Amino acid sequence: MSTEQKGFVLWFTGLSGAGKTTIADIVEARLRDRGSKIEVLDGDVVRTHLSKGLGFSREDRDTNIARIAFVANLLARNEVPVITAAISPYRETRDAARELIGDDKFIEIHVATSLEACEARDTKGLYAKARSGEIKEFTGISDPYEEPLNPEITIQTEGSTADESADEIFAYLEANGFLTTAGELEGAAA
Ligand code: ADX
Repeated sequence: MSTEQKGFVLWFTGLSGAGKTTIADIVEARLRDRGSKIEVLDGDVVRTHLSKGLGFSREDRDTNIARIAFVANLLARNEVPVITAAISPYRETRDAARELIGDDKFIEIHVATSLEACEARDTKGLYAKARSGEIKEFTGISDPYEEPLNPEITIQTEGSTADESADEIFAYLEANGFLTTAGELEGAAA
């Protein structure tokens, strides 16, 4: 197997509070531990600079996602693995990201935590505000979330830990030739 690192994009999608960032953080740390390059484009973080000023209309969300896809593509085509973690609620917009990045590098991961579970957790208190009408256009409550029809990976977070979810992602990467062994990756990074 080649010791050259492959670029790929782990495109997380799912409701607010589904666990995208938590799982992404674990995957990022484990890839680093293996000696891999890795960059993360997290929706909440991207919205503080690259997408600062954008709101949550369809147009603004699509612009946000198009920017994330643009940067992810620049990195992935230079063999830098990328993790994106934004709600990315629209199927058409995710499919456009897939087309830009290339089907061979685009790994769509549906973090399929139910609305009920996200709302019960409500870690940021946003679901309560969405229900009271204080926040408009809130995904899952007053704005759409279009589930992926054929994602490469579906993660059921209810009943499993974030570490177990990360295991599933690594199993996929290994089974599909995206990862060399730890030793080979270290060799490639040296
Ligand atoms: S996306 O739709 O453009 O992909 P993104 O992932 O960047 O969304 O940002 C979502 C985060 O913004 C949520 O996790 C939440 O913290 C916050 N947020 C604030 N208002 C909304 C809203 N109306 N809908 C969804 N998320 C919101």
